[in-house]
Amino acid sequence: KTTNVTVGEAYEQFLSQFYLNDTDSYMTTDFGTPIQDQYTLKVGPRGPGLLEDFMFRQKLQRFDHERVPERVVHARGTGAHGVFTSYANWSNITAASFLNEAGKQTPVFTRFSNVQGFRGSPDTVRDMHGFATKFYTDEGNFDLVGNTVPVFFITDAIQFPDLIHAVKPEPQNEIPQGGTAHDNAWDFFTQQPSSIHTVLWFMAGHGIPHTFRHVNGYGVHTFRFVTASGASKLVKFHWKSLQGVASKVWEEAQASAGKNIDFMRQDLYSNIEVGRYPEWELGVQIMEESQVLAFGFDLLDPTKIVPEEYVPITWLGKMQLNANPMNYFAETEQIGMHPGHIVRGIDFSEDPLLQGRLYSYHDTQLNRHGGPNFEQIPINRPRVPVHNNNRDGVAQQFIPLNNAPYTPNSLDNGNPKQANQTVGDGFFTTPGRQASGHLVRTPPFSDFYTQARLFWNSLVPAEQQFVINAIVFENSKLTHASVRQKTVEAMNLVDNTLAVKVAEGLGLPVPKPNPTYYHNNKTSGVGSFGKPLLSV
Ligand code: HEM
Repeated sequence: KTTNVTVGEAYEQFLSQFYLNDTDSYMTTDFGTPIQDQYTLKVGPRGPGLLEDFMFRQKLQRFDHERVPERVVHARGTGAHGVFTSYANWSNITAASFLNEAGKQTPVFTRFSNVQGFRGSPDTVRDMHGFATKFYTDEGNFDLVGNTVPVFFITDAIQFPDLIHAVKPEPQNEIPQGGTAHDNAWDFFTQQPSSIHTVLWFMAGHGIPHTFRHVNGYGVHTFRFVTASGASKLVKFHWKSLQGVASKVWEEAQASAGKNIDFMRQDLYSNIEVGRYPEWELGVQIMEESQVLAFGFDLLDPTKIVPEEYVPITWLGKMQLNANPMNYFAETEQIGMHPGHIVRGIDFSEDPLLQGRLYSYHDTQLNRHGGPNFEQIPINRPRVPVHNNNRDGVAQQFIPLNNAPYTPNSLDNGNPKQANQTVGDGFFTTPGRQASGHLVRTPPFSDFYTQARLFWNSLVPAEQQFVINAIVFENSKLTHASVRQKTVEAMNLVDNTLAVKVAEGLGLPVPKPNPTYYHNNKTSGVGSFGKPLLSV
């Protein structure tokens, strides 16, 4: 594998200005006074200690404040630096500058994560997994904040706290750590039909990846690509692992959790350390705006995939992860991924889950970092200069020289200029989308079983057995028999054989098929037995 020296060097140069190198130096306070910090200042050798001991107070105070809130979800994660190389000039479909030239290289940082476990939880428990990449483009940062499963549990952002309260460890005892074998989670899944498709994906091998090098990634929502002239198309983002996709079997996952709870982060770190750089291809499924309802479901519905038989993937470029962070907290922990970080050429869709995410990430990061200046932290800084009239706030890192920070003003020429929207390259253009309608609070999407059934049908027998074993294992731990029964009923709306096997495994009555329901399969033939819906 080749190392991309050009971007690597530029990147190193940027970050190295922030490195704190203690070699050949003497201990100092935070304000630079040389000190010896091993003994407190006391009245005589046997004390008591003195309040005036500023170096003792500062050392302890800094220690007392070392922890910041962990991410409310995706707290457990590991990341690496790398480079993205565009395969071509894609300006026919997007104005995004990192895609406008064959061979163009853009620095990236990718953070992989578990969803429900705490920051110190084991890596290999069954869970959803995050795959988030920050592209430091020459027109600002673009964050592709995806998961390793292409669909999601819910269709509306207002349901997210309910989902997370259900899957996090139960409030009375905080167990199980990171597992899903608990009543709240299965009660929620079986009460919320939109979750069933995603549940099947992560009951299959996708819930226990072999390593983070062996996962695909998905943007999940439909996004938009917009050209410089304003023409837009709908796109679904895909990352394809060039290491291949692989999972653990459950026994393997348990054994590795027992032996090394850091298995996944160690794997990524060690491979990069020895120069085995993992790579992923970035691709998009491209759809016309007019196709939003063309496939028998709504492209705004995050519980649906677009089978590749309908729309093949166009591969845009390749990412290589080739450098480990120098400091976990400063880089991996402090990075602020946000689906709202987009650049010219990329736009949102009206997916109600995505629309809500646009609020949540910045809000939670204000909480995590204690104020609004976290975009100035080295790992979050765009690699292009920032100019605006945002001011002050906790821990401001810049010294603004413009003394009239408002627009319009006639007093200070240091004020950043306002772009004319039509000025062209580099300026974010107002989306050309239209919106109108009555205000409603209604469920936007329907039919949550057809694609769950397609997924089930696409699995080979060994994978189907894997799913059955997982559902039986998880449900056998439940304390409420009523929830076990509901799991069987929910699976029976997907497939009778699946439900029968789960019922048998749980010692419950075997359900009858529901033929009326199964005839509702509009997309039969796609993803038929043994044939993957997406090239996993
Ligand atoms: C992290 C909210 C759905 C992928 C987070 C965080 C929040 C959040 C608050 C913590 C961010 C931080 O502290 O920096 C939500 C809400 C959702 C939602 C409200 C739905 C309404 C999704 C979906 C995906 C996703 C559908 C995948 C497509 C991620 C990833 C991270 C994350 C990968 C970790 C980012 C990192 O590594 O720093 N989410 N999320 N989330 N979310 Fe979501």
